[in-house]
Amino acid sequence: MTMIAVTKERRSGETRVAATPETVKKLIAAGFSVTVEAGAGIAAAYPDTDYAAAGAILAKTAKAAVEKADILYKVRAPDDAEIAALKSGAIVAALLNPHQDKAVIAALAARGVSAFAMEFIPRITRAQVMDALSSQANLAGYRAVIEGAEAYGRALPMMMTAAGTIAAAKVFVMGVGVAGLQAIATARRLGAVVTATDVRPATKEQVESLGAKFLAVEDEEFRNAQTAGGYAKEMSPEYQAKQAELVSSHIAKQDIVITTALIPGRAAPRLVNAAQVASMRAGSVLVDLAVEQGGNVEGVKPGEVLVTDNGVKILGIPNLPGRIATDASALYARNLLAFSTLLLDKEGKLAPDYEDEILKAALVTQGGKVVHPALSA
Ligand code: NAI
Repeated sequence: MTMIAVTKERRSGETRVAATPETVKKLIAAGFSVTVEAGAGIAAAYPDTDYAAAGAILAKTAKAAVEKADILYKVRAPDDAEIAALKSGAIVAALLNPHQDKAVIAALAARGVSAFAMEFIPRITRAQVMDALSSQANLAGYRAVIEGAEAYGRALPMMMTAAGTIAAAKVFVMGVGVAGLQAIATARRLGAVVTATDVRPATKEQVESLGAKFLAVEDEEFRNAQTAGGYAKEMSPEYQAKQAELVSSHIAKQDIVITTALIPGRAAPRLVNAAQVASMRAGSVLVDLAVEQGGNVEGVKPGEVLVTDNGVKILGIPNLPGRIATDASALYARNLLAFSTLLLDKEGKLAPDYEDEILKAALVTQGGKVVHPALSA
C-alpha cells in the first residue's frame, strides 16, 4: 500500500500541518496508508488522538515517519534530516518556495526524489481544488485586516453614540489578487470605507462588485498588464512613477493600508515609499503581506512592527496563514487530498502520470535533477 507521511513543521513560526484528521480519513478511503508524526497537528489544534481515530499510524519521530514513506506531505520544505531520511524515488509535495529556496531544491534533487512545488499548480479549472496559493492567500487577506484592525487605535465602523460619533476607518488595499479581494470583503464587513488598486484591468470590476472604489493609472500599459497565466507583469519605471504620484495624495488620507502585490519569481514591487508613509497621520497602520518577498512598503522588516517618527505602524508579519492555522491547515490539507488523486492509477497503485498537465507544471525535481524550466538557470 502506498504510504503517505506527514511530519511536524520545523521552520520557526510555522503552525500549520499538511493533513488533518478529515483528510487522513479520506486518504485512507482512497487507498493510502497515512503515518503522522506525533504532535504534528497540535499547533493547529489537531491532536494526535484525532489522527489516530481517523486511522493514521502515529510515529514517534519524523525519521520513523519519513523513512518508509512513498510520499511526504508538508506545508514547508522538509528539513535536511527529513530529506536524508527519504527513500530515493519518493514523492514530496509542499510549498517549496522554489524561486528563493534554491538550496532545498538542489538537496531534493540530489536525494533523487520527485518533488512537487504546490506554488506551481497551474491555474486551470481542474486544478482549482489543489490551488494552495489561493487557499492560503484568501486567509492571509482576511487575517491582514484583523491584524491591521488590532494595531489601529480606532474603530473600523462608523458608530453614533451618545458621547459622539466615531468616523468609519478608510482602508486602502494595494494589489487585488486572491488576498486583496478577501481583504476588501473583510474590511467592508467591518464597516470600513474601502478603496483598492491593481495593475490588472480585470480587477476593476471585481473591486467595484465588492462595494469598494477602484483607483489606478489606466493607460495602455495597464490594459496589457495581465499575463496569460492571470498574473501581473513587472511594470515599467514610467508606470511606477505615475502610479506613485496617483496614490500619494490618496495614501495620506488612509487609516489602514494593506499591500499584497506580488510578481511570480521576482521581488515584490515597491508600492509605498518612505515619504508616503511619512504623509500618513499618527496611528495609521500599514500591513505588508509581501514582506517575505522583499515587501511592498519601504522599510518593512519581517517579523517586526515598526513605528515611524510620525507614529505610523508598519506591520511585517510573516506567514499570516499561520495565524489562522486551523482553517489554513484544513484548506491546505484538502488541496493535498485533491492532489493525491493524481498519484494513483485506477487500481489504486502509485503511478503518477508525469505527462498530466498539473503534475508536469508542479514537478521541480526528478531522477537526481532539477527539472522545472523556471528553475534551470
Ligand atoms: P499574486 O499574489 O501574484 O499578486 C497579488 C496582486 O498584486 C495581483 O492582483 C497583481 O496583479 C498585483 N500586483 C502586482 N504588481 C502590482 C503593482 N505594481 N501594483 C499594484 N498591484 C500589483 O496574485 P494572485 O492572488 O495569485 O492572483 C493572480 C490572478 O490569478 C488573479 O487574476 C486571480 O483571480 C487569478 N486566479 C485564478 C485562479 C484560477 O483560475 N484557478 C485561481 C486563483 C487565482
